[in-house]
Amino acid sequence: MQEGRDVLSCVIASSQTVFEHAGGVIPEEAAREQVRYILPVLHQAMEEAKMEPRNLSAIAVTRGPGLLGSLLVGTTAARTLARMWRKPIIGVHHTLGHLSSPWLDLPQADEPRFPILTLSASGGHTDLWLRTTHLTGHLIGRTRDDAVGEAFDKGAQLLGLPYPGGPAIAKLAEGGNPDAFAFPMPLKQEDTLEFSFSGLKTALRYLLRDTENADHRDMAASYQAALCRHLIDRIIRAMKRHPEIRELHLVGGVSANAVLRTMLADALPSVRMRFPMKLTYCTDNAAMIGAAAQCMITERKDVAFAPFETHASLPLASAVMSDE
Ligand code: KG4
Ligand code: ZN
Repeated sequence: MQEGRDVLSCVIASSQTVFEHAGGVIPEEAAREQVRYILPVLHQAMEEAKMEPRNLSAIAVTRGPGLLGSLLVGTTAARTLARMWRKPIIGVHHTLGHLSSPWLDLPQADEPRFPILTLSASGGHTDLWLRTTHLTGHLIGRTRDDAVGEAFDKGAQLLGLPYPGGPAIAKLAEGGNPDAFAFPMPLKQEDTLEFSFSGLKTALRYLLRDTENADHRDMAASYQAALCRHLIDRIIRAMKRHPEIRELHLVGGVSANAVLRTMLADALPSVRMRFPMKLTYCTDNAAMIGAAAQCMITERKDVAFAPFETHASLPLASAVMSDE
């Protein structure tokens, strides 16, 4: 990673095949896999970037939140290398990484303009952030129950599809009719920026139980559209409440969803919208942690290089500094 934008290499060792049939990640197994892969991945990343350790100015690593075993594999490797190579180390909040992902590969002339509304939608999160700079802002909405990625994953399980459910549902839905089945709109009467996805998942369960010979493509398409409609409904509310917003960013695994992107563009044609430039930058990756580290250096050097602890339950709101 160079200048917080230019990705010199981005190697991802996905444990997807290991967990495809488990319906989700098994923490112990994940950490064991990471121990096996971390050094080969680092080696490949340095080689692809044509980098020598002496050319590095710092090492960035995710310090939390997340699965403790996985975090410890990463931070232990980073701390060891930092000591060996005599480099400073920067501990990055996982969510700040996602928030920084739209800057990856972005041309220098194309500078996003704050205030920015970011929907961070992944397997663990559905959060709306309003930021006035990279590092300042606050959380204005989150989910009351399941995350939207989790709703994709659980829905996929109900439909007999593999993990992760998002891409599996999106693929099955391709030939289906999104209007075939009616799903309720969650929290319709409530003027809040919160989300709720558990009702949609339950609606899918009953639909599968009560509908004979239903076309699963139609069901997947209708379910996907319902999840997207709820996300878009809350985004529109947030934009109305905060007319100062100049851009809308979508990050996290679910931002890879093509139907969501199309529906959003249709619903908000005049809004400047950005997604991570590559699909691999939507799901978890190391480049976004490098981008976030660069923002930390630029905006708050004292914070960037401060000692840190690995923290499985690092508070979500601490991803940015409150401007309230
Ligand atoms: O950000 P991410 O890689 O990991 C977490 O921090 O959770 O997000 C993974 C989530 C999974 O729930 C997966 O089903 C979902 O993102 N996802 C998608 C798509 N690709 C991944 N959901 C909808 N459509 C997709 N194309
Ligand atoms: Zn993530």
